[in-house]
Amino acid sequence: MINEKMEKAFLDQINKELYSEYLYLSMKAYFANLNLQGFVNWMDVQVQEEHAHAMGMFDYVIERGGRVILEAIEKPEVDWQSPLEVFKAILKHEEYVTSRINALMDVAEETKDRAAIAFLNWYIKEQVEEEANVGGVLAQLELIGDDKNGLFALDKELATRTFVQPVIG
Ligand code: FEO
Repeated sequence: MINEKMEKAFLDQINKELYSEYLYLSMKAYFANLNLQGFVNWMDVQVQEEHAHAMGMFDYVIERGGRVILEAIEKPEVDWQSPLEVFKAILKHEEYVTSRINALMDVAEETKDRAAIAFLNWYIKEQVEEEANVGGVLAQLELIGDDKNGLFALDKELATRTFVQPVIG
């Protein structure tokens, strides 16, 4: 059975993962209005990944005999100055998520919850990948600058990203 402190930490993180899904959905809408369909696709994969992250914890809390109680999801930002600004915001957000996953691991270690430590290792590794993916696109956008052809070439590349349902835990 999951301990109360660990359960509370997981419920808080489920809310943050659902907020991430909501934020990326908002960014998807931003790119749809710019008619950058490759960026729309990239954000859509991101949305699905965040949903999977939230559901992984949702299922885990229940599996450990806990109770999932959902809270309100914060309203996400709706506007950015440019695709570059969007990706700067994503990287900042993912760095914040990494810090929250690390805090969750701290609770697992403090409460000597070895099962939660093993489960959370997946999320620790996933955050490395998340930051690297976002950082890669951000670096390309910085190189592109105001070059419209470069932006369209990147849009084509981002159209190829596909969602793979992760096996969490
Ligand atoms: Fe759920 Fe992008 O971290």
